[in-house]
Amino acid sequence: MAANLVLFGPPGAGKGTQAKRIEQVRRIPQISTGDILREAVQAGTELGLQAKAVMERGELVSDALMVGIVRERLARDDAAGGFILDGFPRTVAQAVALDEILTGRDPLVIIELGVPDQELVERLSRRRVCLRCGATFGAGAGDMPAACTRCGAALVQRSDDREDVVRERLRVYHEQTQPLVAFYEDRPSFRRVEGNQPPDAVHAALGVAIDEALAAVRRQPPPGG
Ligand code: AP5
Repeated sequence: MAANLVLFGPPGAGKGTQAKRIEQVRRIPQISTGDILREAVQAGTELGLQAKAVMERGELVSDALMVGIVRERLARDDAAGGFILDGFPRTVAQAVALDEILTGRDPLVIIELGVPDQELVERLSRRRVCLRCGATFGAGAGDMPAACTRCGAALVQRSDDREDVVRERLRVYHEQTQPLVAFYEDRPSFRRVEGNQPPDAVHAALGVAIDEALAAVRRQPPPGG
């Protein structure tokens, strides 16, 4: 059975950090809608031009645009054997569209990564990202490196990591994304993982949650059976 994963949680919960680790371990692609949008902004494409100001205000890009992007991305060959959606769905309308996109494919495993707001504000004020390769820094207890330890390029603060924008992103999360819990929680493949613990502990807890959820899905009778 393909591991078709949705990882959702508030800004700074560690979705990107953990999705990259799951990608390595399970050999399924991370699909980060935030990264797709940031690449488009950097490349100056039509999508980037539409998304830039919205992202800088901490608001959400339109459902129609995001659903189109994800529909196209999930149709690619590398997503046929499983994927990790990081940052999508973010509204109930996106979740409804995702179910429709995945008709006929293996059921979703949905993981909510929970972290209290105050910890998120602190994490995002510390976060720095590499200008060239996009690597993220800030989870370690030590000092921030002077440059990217992977490629040597400069580290910068994301423009939406200013405290006023972070607070708006959190407000939008609670208003528009948290209703996904009610949308998904009755499914046997829904799990909540505590994200307010060291990254290795989160990774271990996610591994257990994903395996349990996949097992629960396998125990389900087939549709109409
Ligand atoms: P997106 O890039 O998805 O931003 P986000 O959801 O706000 O998530 P972040 O990337 O800020 O955080 P994360 O959870 O990935 O945490 P990370 O691992 O980096 O979206 C950006 C914008 O694009 C949105 O605001 C919206 O405008 C638009 N957008 C995207 N998708 C959309 C959609 N579907 N619909 C509409 N609009 C959309 O970790 C954060 C920091 O904490 C790092 O410094 C990290 O090193 C550190 N850290 C990680 N884990 C731990 C830990 N366990 N303990 C301590 N520190 C940790």
